[in-house]
Amino acid sequence: MAHMVKPLRIVPLAAELRKNSGIGAEVVLPPSMRHLDMDGLSDEEKATLRSGLFDHGVLVVRNQQGLDPNVMPQIGRFFDETAWDIHSGGAKMVTDAKNILSQNRGSRAPRAPQVSIIGKGKWTGYEGLADLDLKHVSHTEFHETPCTKEELADGFTRAYRWHMDAPLYERLPGYVTSLHSLKNPDLPDQKLWFPSGEVLSIAAGATAFYSGARAFDLLSDEEKEFALNTTVQYAPRAYEWMLDCKATDDGLTIAKSGQEKRLEDLREWSWDKVHAFPMVWRNIGNGKPHLQVLGCCVFALRTADPTTGEVTVIDDLDEVREICHKLTSKVYTPENIYAHRWQEGDLVIFHNRGVLHSITGELTRTSGESDPEKRLFWQCTMASGTPPTAYRAAA
Ligand SMILES: [Fe+2]
Repeated sequence: MAHMVKPLRIVPLAAELRKNSGIGAEVVLPPSMRHLDMDGLSDEEKATLRSGLFDHGVLVVRNQQGLDPNVMPQIGRFFDETAWDIHSGGAKMVTDAKNILSQNRGSRAPRAPQVSIIGKGKWTGYEGLADLDLKHVSHTEFHETPCTKEELADGFTRAYRWHMDAPLYERLPGYVTSLHSLKNPDLPDQKLWFPSGEVLSIAAGATAFYSGARAFDLLSDEEKEFALNTTVQYAPRAYEWMLDCKATDDGLTIAKSGQEKRLEDLREWSWDKVHAFPMVWRNIGNGKPHLQVLGCCVFALRTADPTTGEVTVIDDLDEVREICHKLTSKVYTPENIYAHRWQEGDLVIFHNRGVLHSITGELTRTSGESDPEKRLFWQCTMASGTPPTAYRAAA
């Protein structure tokens, strides 16, 4: 049914929230639509939603309490006709202790197996599942030099790990990820730390985003040229490979080499399934260039000379990480970060091929019945049938 009187609208978030991030807009549903219903939108409304996502990177639909989890895979299919009907993390939740992605002890929704259940704390009988004891990962377990006890007591937190939702092996990253907040911590704000010494006050458990388009804009002309000509080779089974590695203070890359697993010690793998992506991706909505580098998982860089086609390979890990860090760290300032302050019922849809995101927040107390840190979320990101598009096609 078309909503001719008050159709779906996209309203950019307030300027003080967006700052220079280029990120964030609210989706105002037609008054007759309680929950986002893809089948209930007119063609014009679908076009508005589509361009809204690709232009603003992160869309927020408020008050979606009672949402059917099956809407989330429908959203994935709406933005990507080639989406497979499985979560990009695999048909089942990762529970293998050898994999870094198992550390949140999440589960999957029985009503919609493409939807992960993540959060913090003990949940009994939720969605008919056996008891859950969800864990919110803390930067203190992953950063080389985490915040001190005093800083933590003072409310400081860090960006845990900047990433796109991408397994980097076999299954291609989805165009979008959707997140639905069912329960948020009842805690004071925390302080997001920046290398400049600046501090951003954020909600406990906020999800932080930066735009790959903004990151690209901030590069010098020389850096842009390098990025446009470079392909990023990710490590085989990257998350297993870097299980014992520790990150830089900003969560953008690994602090130093030496802790990576030996390639022969990884679970069975082959190079044809390991992903290499352009460093700069084309936004399929508005055509803009986005710097999309998952710095903790990089393995090598291949840079083509645009006139001769000659390829230079950099495979010294420290050098590869240093180059990627130099390029990506320019965007890591309070002005360029949008940290979503979750309200219960929020449905957030983000352009996984246009923004990078990170967990923040220290929710590390032992779970109890009256746990103020309790958090419950649904997350859905579907494997795609289409690789990311290079902004500049190979010569
Ligand atoms: Fe993620």
